[in-house]
Amino acid sequence: MNQNSRFQSLLILACGVALGGMAMTGAYRSVLPTAVAAAPPDKGLDLTALQTEVSRLKGLVPDQSHAMADVGYHFANVWFAGQRQNWPLAKFYLDETRSHLKWAVRIIPVRKTKAGDLDLGGILEGIDNSLLSELGASIEAKDGARFEAGYRKTLEGCYSCHQAAEKPYLRPQVPLVPPQPIMNTDPDAKWPN
Ligand code: HEC
Repeated sequence: MNQNSRFQSLLILACGVALGGMAMTGAYRSVLPTAVAAAPPDKGLDLTALQTEVSRLKGLVPDQSHAMADVGYHFANVWFAGQRQNWPLAKFYLDETRSHLKWAVRIIPVRKTKAGDLDLGGILEGIDNSLLSELGASIEAKDGARFEAGYRKTLEGCYSCHQAAEKPYLRPQVPLVPPQPIMNTDPDAKWPN
């Protein structure tokens, strides 16, 4: 067995034990240490392999700007869906915006700035609970005017985080052209388009 496949077997074993532990009742739990002890001795935890694998996986994670570029893409689509009053499509892109913002913040939760550590997670939570929720409510309510106002307000929220992160040149605007031309935004479109 090479290091990699040994590591994989260990991972599978660990997952099995963890899942089994969750699924089993108390009576069966006492059996688990025996299962672990029963593993052949050469399957001892290989920390070096684990560290190598962790750094390899870290190298595969996209950077924060990549996730934010997705946010820009999704949020621009929100605008054009809203303009056409295509509310299900607007909701779809708003949900994507929110989940990609969370992803971006998971990649770098705290940024170092001249003013000290900047808690991106905290800022996002504030924006998510206020501006993004309000925009979501305007979509639920199918209210075009409220949607436009909420969209512009949210852009201010986006920008406030960019400023706090010492990137005042990242100035979002109401988008001029749809970033996704292949998606039909017409709410009354029938298939085939
Ligand atoms: C919690 C903080 C935060 C919020 C909220 C936020 N951003 Fe960002 N955004 C950042 C940071 C930090 C960067 C720079 C990332 C880097 O330097 O790697 C960035 C970069 C970007 C970029 C540039 C990506 C690129 O590389 O091309 C875009 C586009 C963007 N944000 C759009 C938005 C939009 C739209 C919103 C609001 C819906 C938003 N952001 C909300 C922190 C935030």
